[in-house]
Amino acid sequence: MKEQELMELFADLSIEEKIGQMLQLSGNFYETGDTEEAVLTGPALEMGIGEKEIFHAGSVLSVFDSEKIMDIQKRFMQKHPHHIPLLFMGDIINGYRTIFPIPLAQGCSFDPEEVKHAAEVAAEESALSGLHVTFSPMVDLVRDSRWGRVMESTGEDTYLNSCMARAMVEGYQGDDLNKKGNIAACIKHFAAYGAPTAGRDYNNVELSERTLREFYLPAYKAGIDAGAAMVMTSFNTLNHVPASGNKWLMQDILREEMGFEGVLISDWAAIEEMIAHGYAKDKKEAAKLAIEAGVDIDMVTSVYIKNLIKLLEENAISMEQIDACVLRILRLKNALGLFENPFKDLNAEELKKSILNEEHRALARMAAADSMVLVKNDGILPLQEKKDKIAVIGPYATSKHLYGFWSILGREEDTVSLEEGLKRRGLKETPVFAEGTYVLPEDYEFSGIVAGEGKRREKTEKEFLVEALEAAAAADKVVIAIGEHAYQSGEGGSRSEISIAQNQIQLLRQISKVNKNVVAVLFHGRPLDLREVEKYANAVVLAWFPGSEGGNAVWDILFGDVNPSAKLSMSMPYSIGQVPVFYNEYRTGRPFHGEKGNRFLSRYQDIPNRPLHPFGFGLSYTTFSCSSVEVSSEKLGDEGVTASVTVTNTGKKAGKEVVQLYVQDVTGSTVHPVKDMRGFEKISLEPGESRQVSFHITEDMLRYYDIQMQYICEPGEFRIYIGDSSDTENYATIVRE
Ligand code: BGC
Repeated sequence: MKEQELMELFADLSIEEKIGQMLQLSGNFYETGDTEEAVLTGPALEMGIGEKEIFHAGSVLSVFDSEKIMDIQKRFMQKHPHHIPLLFMGDIINGYRTIFPIPLAQGCSFDPEEVKHAAEVAAEESALSGLHVTFSPMVDLVRDSRWGRVMESTGEDTYLNSCMARAMVEGYQGDDLNKKGNIAACIKHFAAYGAPTAGRDYNNVELSERTLREFYLPAYKAGIDAGAAMVMTSFNTLNHVPASGNKWLMQDILREEMGFEGVLISDWAAIEEMIAHGYAKDKKEAAKLAIEAGVDIDMVTSVYIKNLIKLLEENAISMEQIDACVLRILRLKNALGLFENPFKDLNAEELKKSILNEEHRALARMAAADSMVLVKNDGILPLQEKKDKIAVIGPYATSKHLYGFWSILGREEDTVSLEEGLKRRGLKETPVFAEGTYVLPEDYEFSGIVAGEGKRREKTEKEFLVEALEAAAAADKVVIAIGEHAYQSGEGGSRSEISIAQNQIQLLRQISKVNKNVVAVLFHGRPLDLREVEKYANAVVLAWFPGSEGGNAVWDILFGDVNPSAKLSMSMPYSIGQVPVFYNEYRTGRPFHGEKGNRFLSRYQDIPNRPLHPFGFGLSYTTFSCSSVEVSSEKLGDEGVTASVTVTNTGKKAGKEVVQLYVQDVTGSTVHPVKDMRGFEKISLEPGESRQVSFHITEDMLRYYDIQMQYICEPGEFRIYIGDSSDTENYATIVRE
């Protein structure tokens, strides 16, 4: 529709229709064939809304079935006075039916191109199902592994998250929302949802403006610059103000500074929750605060629909404020081409051919292998496919729940388990499988979610153990597949412990007594305390929740078909006591470098300062050397400086290395972190091959907020680090005059 036509349509809308656009309902308002009944008995009654409001709404969330979408859209458009189509939105986080690794794992690939392809596949399948918008990517910076939602982020680093935000937005949206296979992206959760106090979900966030701007905001900005059509507010308060009513955050920063012109949606009931926060006295005030902040859509409450007209009548808000919101929503519908075709790409037949097709599965397999991080290897890996007699032990030996908490459409029957993956390879020596124990002890209770593992307990722990020990004793090598339950992470999945359940650790301990060749493969949604696992296992592979092809990808890694190349997107804490622990901590006046006998340094008495494995760390089956950093000039002029290293594959296998660039501002008008990532390049090298890797350093890469809150590169010395992890001490110094 031409802009002119859109404006004509807009001018013709009643106030009820306009405000209707700002309401998002869940699918169950429409899913029944008998709407009247839904109105009388369903959630609509609770919300105090009737059929009129339901058929004035602007969008729907969480309907994933193409037939239902088709049916709802048809019925809706007949009843809507101006036949304006609904927008269908949903959480497609790491894939639609072809499930990719969880985002935290995708971050470990350090491969934005691959991440973009995964988003393209997710968009294609979603678009064919009839969805128009995904509530992804979540680009919240995460530093606290107690928080269950770290799994949805791409990690602890601003630069890496920005690259991944861009890649995902480009993957979902392509270059034109109207084109086939493209859906709108929604950057979330604005802002700083990833920093809840004490790692407890929905808790308050307290960040200085400097920290917010330097570390937390850039990834949202990168997603917006990539053209993201939508942004979602966060649940949390930021420095005492709930995000959904934070005018400074939404108007001054998001709209003015970042130039975001798209649709801003609240998170689930987040406008109403401002009452519980103690920020709004009632729903009417909540509506006023949110509209003043410029929130366009109220997700699943009647706060807007019940109060905006009253507020208008009282002149407490203006028609211009409403109009601005409605126009943004209509423009998104128009950009998706919904006025011409309200079903966009919906096509049940094509959907069947698209989901989990060979190409999608191949990409999911590659993405999974490329995100698995090898953190320990005494030489046992890669396993020898032609020789080793393997026992696969542990609850994840046979489990098909490999897709994580947020994969709404992930299905066990679509997922390749470790058992299936290994059997498909047709080994000479028949492998043995034994679960050994359950993921969680029998008495473990999840609050608010179906307890246990959804599985009948057919054997006692003792029977399980006997079977597992026999299998382990008879094998050359044991692969033990253990980890967290998928429900231990994700939304509402905060934990005060970051270890694997003791029953699984016991199993590992027992196995290690009867077999000295143990490889641990871990399935998990957060960084874990790995000390015990590393003590008993000869090698440790972090598989995260790898998705539909997880069981194939693990063997690709274990047999060396794929040489591990992933690097940690989040530091692996030494223990829970360090959390939050992240590489770019600030310099202290009393730094600790492991000296003995000095109490009065910034240190713990009982544990090291360093995480067990830092951000950017990951092993390979080959080894790489890196030369010292050479700079084209020691003085940084306006044209920039080139910093280079030569990386050599010094081992016997071809492999990929993530060459990482960090900077440190040695002295400034404020204190800066020990180092901050500013670039990376993933390169492939044959054995013996060398490659020069260069980064062009410009003044804008050395900017920080100075004491006046100006974002500038202050004169003085900078260290330019290039290496294989955030731990690198390989640097050259340059000076900005
Ligand atoms: C989550 C969002 C999600 C929304 C809609 C909320 O509970 O915080 O990330 O997009 O639900 O499902």
